[in-house]
Amino acid sequence: MTEQAEKPFLYVVVCAAGIAAGVGELITAAQEEGWEVGVIATPVAMNGFFDTAAVEAQAGRPIRSAWRSPAGPRPFPPPDAVVVAPATFNTVNKWAAGLGDTLAVGTLCEASGLGVPIAVLPCVADALAAHPAYRDSLIRLRGMGVRFGPPFAGEPGAEFPWKQALDLLRR
Ligand SMILES: Cc1cc2nc3c(=O)[nH]c(=O)nc-3n(C[C@H](O)[C@H](O)[C@H](O)COP(=O)(O)O)c2cc1C
Repeated sequence: MTEQAEKPFLYVVVCAAGIAAGVGELITAAQEEGWEVGVIATPVAMNGFFDTAAVEAQAGRPIRSAWRSPAGPRPFPPPDAVVVAPATFNTVNKWAAGLGDTLAVGTLCEASGLGVPIAVLPCVADALAAHPAYRDSLIRLRGMGVRFGPPFAGEPGAEFPWKQALDLLRR
């Protein structure tokens, strides 16, 4: 019997933006491309921004949002790649500043330090994107090798480019 190759493991980090309700589309696309998916959501995102039960069923494992207990097992294997979608103003700025106060941001800080490929699809309103701290954060994260999709401000009718996150990983 031939041994089946293990699938690469993708962390999908979900932040608290209204568009997060559609994250299932990204998970489906990633699974179709052969990724095993583990979802890490910010604590605010867990509070009504997407259907957590549906996403857990789709990923086939619980969503992580809080730190594990010190004695507990590591719930996910180490990531082969990470996608942050949607990425909020708040999480992007905290990540760039190195403030790991949520599992999501702590994971991103660590993954970038380990050289794991990371693709980000921001969803940030133009007024917030104009803030100098946000502009500095993008420069800093890009300098760390983080790959960003196009700006997206949540205009009515505009489609969030979920699948582009996977294209960015292939770059
Ligand atoms: C309905 C709703 C939609 C929101 N959409 C966005 C958004 O698209 N982008 C954003 O940066 N913040 C958005 N926010 C604000 C964030 O939820 C807020 O800044 C939160 O602290 C982000 O936490 P997180 O980065 O830990 O997920 C939204 C808030 C609400 C209530």
